[in-house]
Amino acid sequence: MTKDNYQFEYIRIPSQEHLNAEDQELMRHALNASSEAYAPYSNFFVGAAARLKSGIILTGSNQENASYPVGVCAERVLLGIVASQHPQIPINTMAITYQSKNRESNIPVSPCGMCRQALLEFENRVSQPMRLLLGGVKGEVLIIDSTRLLLPLAFESSYLK
Ligand code: THU
Repeated sequence: MTKDNYQFEYIRIPSQEHLNAEDQELMRHALNASSEAYAPYSNFFVGAAARLKSGIILTGSNQENASYPVGVCAERVLLGIVASQHPQIPINTMAITYQSKNRESNIPVSPCGMCRQALLEFENRVSQPMRLLLGGVKGEVLIIDSTRLLLPLAFESSYLK
């Protein structure tokens, strides 16, 4: 028997003003995008913004549905937009943030399990890690160098070959 362990490093920034100008801009795009979220059921309005390797910024937001499981998270809405409008262009950085109507939005959002799977597949498709900025309206921002770090022992396409 062997015991293994998994750990990863990420950066905690005390507030958005401490980010570099490019990252602050991306967080602003993500927050603006959260205003376009359709979240009448959860009141949790998520916005995501991607800075592509080509320099273009694209955004997405969560889109809910009266049939709850039909709803799509902001991250996967955005991945679909990027992959269909700019095929094979890597995302250098994705900023994700939210505004909740129910509580103060000062704790960094964390992508759900399904989105982690989708983010990882995107990285694999374009052969480049995607940096993540996770925040809220205010408060700390987490910087993670690759979405792979968020999904240890992932199920990937290699299993199907
Ligand atoms: N949601 C996202 O869009 N991204 C996340 O990272 C976390 C959760 C959405 C899904 C649902 O519309 C609402 O937030 C509450 O779960």
